[in-house]
Amino acid sequence: MAQYDVRHFLETEQEYADLASLLRVASPGNRPVSAGELREEDLDWPAGYLHGRVYLVSQGKGFAAVGTCYQAFWQEAPFTVHIHFDIHPEHEEAQVLSLVYAELQRLVAESGKKVKRLASRARENEGVRIQFLLEQGFQETMRSPTSVLRTDAADGTISEEAGGKTAQDGVMILTLNQLKAGVPDWKRRLRDLRWEVVQDVESTDPFSKPTVDDFEEMVLNDPALDENAFFVALNAAGDLIGMSNLWRNDPSGKRLDTGLTGVVRSYRRRGIATALKQRTVQYAKSSGAATIETSNEEGSAMYALNVKLGFKPGPAWLDFSKAVTSESN
Ligand SMILES: CC(C)(COP(=O)(O)OP(=O)(O)OC[C@H]1O[C@@H](n2cnc3c(N)ncnc32)[C@H](O)[C@@H]1OP(=O)(O)O)[C@@H](O)C(=O)NCCC(=O)NCCS
Repeated sequence: MAQYDVRHFLETEQEYADLASLLRVASPGNRPVSAGELREEDLDWPAGYLHGRVYLVSQGKGFAAVGTCYQAFWQEAPFTVHIHFDIHPEHEEAQVLSLVYAELQRLVAESGKKVKRLASRARENEGVRIQFLLEQGFQETMRSPTSVLRTDAADGTISEEAGGKTAQDGVMILTLNQLKAGVPDWKRRLRDLRWEVVQDVESTDPFSKPTVDDFEEMVLNDPALDENAFFVALNAAGDLIGMSNLWRNDPSGKRLDTGLTGVVRSYRRRGIATALKQRTVQYAKSSGAATIETSNEEGSAMYALNVKLGFKPGPAWLDFSKAVTSESN
């Protein structure tokens, strides 16, 4: 068995740089995050919400893994702590998982927070991780298949019909750039639209309403945002009624990730989400992206719509949950 030391993070430039390198190899699908961004994330985590990391160092080889625990400030779930593992692929996952998990449990207990639930995620093709979580008493709570649309195989027929229909109904689609230039009070109104639709997204915990500043920080300041790949639908009276966007998490631009797609309740089943998605597909094609990727809860309207639009299912994300008392986690 390999020998590891668990140790605290030293918050030096070098440690943040090493952490950024580890995250790149451990989670290659995520947007690469710089050392500076990680430091900022640590500094900006809202007061009162737990956020901590534990580090596993292999002798002479640097970081083998990092475990993160946090309370999600964007959710209404004060007694839930999320735990997340980033493991260097050179290391034996089962051994590393149990060391990191034990240390995370200690950190959560020491935080003094009242905790009723631990939550974690794994992809359904991550067999070792799933087995580990089940052995610790976690249970699967939600299944969200990933799905991929190859832009060269996208059949625009359904979308074009929806685009024509929504235009006839007086619905206009603007990019975020156009919205900013032409619509007064756009930031608050976009926050309101997003809040209205996000409450209907299937989730293991309810969301909390963001302030306009929170919305700016979480969405508009996301480095993966592209204002020309962010579409907003307005009715004839100028009300904001739907949105969909693509994130540039892949620096090569070959893969684009779908963000929140949503339409306010009174305008659903009129083809508006389809028309918005059509704009995202057109954008992806014109920007040279090969694929659009997403993941949605398997019973959701959005998943049904994506499959209809030609997205092909891949391995699902699985949410896991474990009931704990503050003493027993
Ligand atoms: C999912 C959502 C965006 C769909 O918006 P919409 O404008 O109503 O979608 P469309 O009218 O373009 O629907 C096109 C097709 O999708 C499928 N679809 C849409 N809603 C559906 C539902 N509730 N159940 C089953 N299929 C559905 C249907 O095939 C539909 O075609 P049809 O109306 O001819 O049967 C909307 O229900 C919503 O905002 N939900 C809450 C937010 C959310 O969960 N977003 C996804 C997470 S990112």
